[in-house]
Amino acid sequence: MTASFIPPKRVLMGPGPSDVPQRILDAMARPTIGHLDPAFVELMEQIKSMLRMAFQTENALTFPVSAPGSAGMEMCFVNLVEPGDKVIVCKNGVFGGRMLENVKRTGGVPVVVEDAWGAPVDPQKVRDAFKANPDAKVLAFVHAETSTGAQSDAETLGKIAQEFGALTIMDCVT
Ligand SMILES: Cc1ncc(COP(=O)(O)O)c(C=O)c1O
Repeated sequence: MTASFIPPKRVLMGPGPSDVPQRILDAMARPTIGHLDPAFVELMEQIKSMLRMAFQTENALTFPVSAPGSAGMEMCFVNLVEPGDKVIVCKNGVFGGRMLENVKRTGGVPVVVEDAWGAPVDPQKVRDAFKANPDAKVLAFVHAETSTGAQSDAETLGKIAQEFGALTIMDCVT
Protein backbone atom coordinates (compact mmCIF):
# COMPACT_ATOMS: atom_id res chain seq x y z
CA MET A 1 0.00 0.00 0.00
CA THR A 2 1.27 3.51 -0.78
CA ALA A 3 1.27 5.91 2.14
CA SER A 4 -0.42 9.28 1.77
CA PHE A 5 2.15 11.90 0.71
CA ILE A 6 2.68 14.58 3.35
CA PRO A 7 5.15 17.14 1.94
CA PRO A 8 7.78 18.45 4.36
CA LYS A 9 7.73 22.17 5.23
CA ARG A 10 10.41 24.04 3.24
CA VAL A 11 11.36 27.68 2.82
CA LEU A 12 11.49 28.17 -0.96
CA MET A 13 13.89 30.92 -1.97
CA GLY A 14 14.28 30.30 -5.73
CA PRO A 15 12.47 32.06 -8.59
CA GLY A 16 9.88 29.27 -8.48
CA PRO A 17 8.23 27.25 -7.10
CA SER A 18 7.75 29.76 -4.33
CA ASP A 19 6.20 29.71 -0.87
CA VAL A 20 2.41 29.87 -0.87
CA PRO A 21 0.86 32.00 1.91
CA GLN A 22 -1.36 30.09 4.33
CA ARG A 23 -4.47 32.09 3.37
CA ILE A 24 -4.08 30.88 -0.25
CA LEU A 25 -3.61 27.27 0.89
CA ASP A 26 -6.77 27.63 3.01
CA ALA A 27 -8.70 29.05 0.05
CA MET A 28 -7.60 26.12 -2.11
CA ALA A 29 -9.08 23.69 0.43
CA ARG A 30 -12.59 25.12 -0.12
CA PRO A 31 -15.18 23.01 -2.00
CA THR A 32 -14.79 22.42 -5.74
CA ILE A 33 -17.52 23.76 -8.01
CA GLY A 34 -18.13 23.25 -11.73
CA HIS A 35 -17.10 25.74 -14.39
CA LEU A 36 -20.76 26.28 -15.35
CA ASP A 37 -21.90 26.92 -11.79
CA PRO A 38 -23.46 30.42 -11.49
CA ALA A 39 -21.18 31.08 -8.51
CA PHE A 40 -18.14 30.27 -10.66
CA VAL A 41 -19.35 32.49 -13.51
CA GLU A 42 -19.83 35.37 -11.09
CA LEU A 43 -16.34 34.90 -9.64
CA MET A 44 -14.80 34.72 -13.12
CA GLU A 45 -16.52 37.99 -14.12
CA GLN A 46 -15.06 39.66 -11.01
CA ILE A 47 -11.58 38.36 -11.83
CA LYS A 48 -11.87 39.51 -15.47
CA SER A 49 -12.89 42.98 -14.40
CA MET A 50 -9.96 43.21 -11.94
CA LEU A 51 -7.56 41.98 -14.64
CA ARG A 52 -8.80 44.72 -16.98
CA MET A 53 -7.96 47.21 -14.25
CA ALA A 54 -4.51 45.68 -13.68
CA PHE A 55 -3.68 45.68 -17.40
CA GLN A 56 -5.36 49.06 -18.04
CA THR A 57 -7.57 47.78 -20.83
CA GLU A 58 -11.28 47.70 -21.65
CA ASN A 59 -10.92 44.65 -23.88
CA ALA A 60 -13.67 42.16 -22.93
CA LEU A 61 -11.34 39.32 -24.00
CA THR A 62 -9.10 39.76 -20.95
CA PHE A 63 -9.13 36.50 -19.04
CA PRO A 64 -6.86 34.35 -16.89
CA VAL A 65 -5.62 30.95 -18.07
CA SER A 66 -5.37 28.43 -15.28
CA ALA A 67 -2.17 26.80 -16.53
CA PRO A 68 1.60 27.31 -16.69
CA GLY A 69 3.14 29.93 -18.96
CA SER A 70 3.90 27.33 -21.65
CA ALA A 71 0.19 26.50 -21.97
CA GLY A 72 -0.63 30.21 -22.19
CA MET A 73 1.86 30.61 -25.03
CA GLU A 74 0.54 27.56 -26.86
CA MET A 75 -3.06 28.77 -26.39
CA CYS A 76 -2.22 32.01 -28.21
CA PHE A 77 -0.61 30.25 -31.17
CA VAL A 78 -3.22 27.52 -31.67
CA ASN A 79 -6.03 30.09 -31.53
CA LEU A 80 -4.47 32.83 -33.64
CA VAL A 81 -2.40 30.99 -36.26
CA GLU A 82 -4.03 28.93 -39.00
CA PRO A 83 -2.10 26.61 -41.34
CA GLY A 84 -0.38 28.74 -43.99
CA ASP A 85 -0.43 31.95 -41.93
CA LYS A 86 2.86 33.83 -41.97
CA VAL A 87 4.25 34.63 -38.53
CA ILE A 88 7.24 36.87 -37.88
CA VAL A 89 8.85 35.17 -34.92
CA CYS A 90 11.76 36.74 -33.04
CA LYS A 91 14.37 34.43 -31.64
CA ASN A 92 17.05 35.68 -29.24
CA GLY A 93 17.02 32.88 -26.68
CA VAL A 94 15.33 29.70 -25.44
CA PHE A 95 11.78 31.01 -25.24
CA GLY A 96 11.84 32.63 -28.68
CA GLY A 97 12.87 29.16 -29.88
CA ARG A 98 9.82 27.75 -28.16
CA MET A 99 7.63 30.27 -29.96
CA LEU A 100 9.15 29.12 -33.25
CA GLU A 101 8.25 25.49 -32.35
CA ASN A 102 4.66 26.58 -31.72
CA VAL A 103 4.44 28.30 -35.11
CA LYS A 104 5.72 25.18 -36.86
CA ARG A 105 3.34 22.87 -34.99
CA THR A 106 0.30 24.98 -35.84
CA GLY A 107 1.23 24.82 -39.53
CA GLY A 108 2.16 28.50 -39.69
CA VAL A 109 4.91 29.74 -41.99
CA PRO A 110 7.63 31.21 -39.77
CA VAL A 111 9.71 34.20 -40.81
CA VAL A 112 12.50 34.15 -38.25
CA VAL A 113 14.10 37.37 -37.03
CA GLU A 114 17.21 36.24 -35.25
CA ASP A 115 19.27 38.18 -32.73
CA ALA A 116 22.22 37.08 -30.65
CA TRP A 117 21.57 35.54 -27.24
CA GLY A 118 21.84 38.40 -24.74
CA ALA A 119 20.78 41.07 -27.25
CA PRO A 120 17.24 42.50 -27.42
CA VAL A 121 15.09 42.03 -30.53
CA ASP A 122 16.21 44.57 -33.13
CA PRO A 123 13.14 46.63 -34.23
CA GLN A 124 14.79 47.47 -37.56
CA LYS A 125 15.06 43.77 -38.41
CA VAL A 126 11.37 43.34 -37.52
CA ARG A 127 10.41 46.29 -39.74
CA ASP A 128 12.49 44.84 -42.61
CA ALA A 129 10.80 41.44 -42.13
CA PHE A 130 7.36 43.08 -42.39
CA LYS A 131 8.42 45.03 -45.49
CA ALA A 132 9.57 41.77 -47.12
CA ASN A 133 6.44 39.93 -45.86
CA PRO A 134 3.55 42.42 -45.76
CA ASP A 135 1.09 39.49 -45.66
CA ALA A 136 2.38 38.40 -42.20
CA LYS A 137 -0.56 37.97 -39.81
CA VAL A 138 1.27 37.87 -36.48
CA LEU A 139 4.41 39.19 -34.78
CA ALA A 140 5.65 36.98 -31.94
CA PHE A 141 8.36 37.90 -29.45
CA VAL A 142 9.41 37.44 -25.83
CA HIS A 143 9.38 40.63 -23.76
CA ALA A 144 12.25 39.55 -21.50
CA GLU A 145 14.19 36.44 -22.48
CA THR A 146 14.54 34.60 -19.19
CA SER A 147 17.43 32.58 -20.60
CA THR A 148 19.63 35.70 -20.86
CA GLY A 149 17.77 38.55 -19.13
CA ALA A 150 17.61 40.61 -22.35
CA GLN A 151 14.54 42.85 -22.45
CA SER A 152 13.06 43.93 -25.78
CA ASP A 153 11.14 47.13 -26.49
CA ALA A 154 7.52 45.92 -26.38
CA GLU A 155 5.99 49.29 -27.24
CA THR A 156 8.11 49.83 -30.37
CA LEU A 157 7.67 46.24 -31.59
CA GLY A 158 3.91 46.29 -30.97
CA LYS A 159 3.58 49.56 -32.91
CA ILE A 160 5.43 48.10 -35.91
CA ALA A 161 3.03 45.13 -35.95
CA GLN A 162 0.04 47.51 -35.78
CA GLU A 163 1.45 49.57 -38.63
CA PHE A 164 1.44 46.45 -40.81
CA GLY A 165 -2.01 45.32 -39.60
CA ALA A 166 -0.67 42.28 -37.73
CA LEU A 167 -1.55 40.89 -34.32
CA THR A 168 1.12 40.65 -31.61
CA ILE A 169 1.75 37.62 -29.43
CA MET A 170 4.05 38.65 -26.59
CA ASP A 171 5.36 36.27 -23.96
CA CYS A 172 5.64 38.40 -20.82
CA VAL A 173 6.23 35.61 -18.31
CA THR A 174 9.38 37.47 -17.19
C1 LIG B 1 9.85 33.82 -21.00
C2 LIG B 1 9.21 32.54 -20.54
N1 LIG B 1 8.24 32.00 -21.28
C3 LIG B 1 7.64 30.84 -20.92
C4 LIG B 1 8.00 30.17 -19.78
C5 LIG B 1 7.32 28.90 -19.43
O1 LIG B 1 6.56 29.05 -18.29
P1 LIG B 1 6.12 27.77 -17.45
O2 LIG B 1 7.36 27.17 -16.87
O3 LIG B 1 5.18 28.34 -16.42
O4 LIG B 1 5.43 26.84 -18.39
C6 LIG B 1 9.01 30.68 -18.97
C7 LIG B 1 9.44 29.99 -17.75
O5 LIG B 1 10.43 30.33 -17.13
C8 LIG B 1 9.62 31.89 -19.35
O6 LIG B 1 10.59 32.43 -18.60
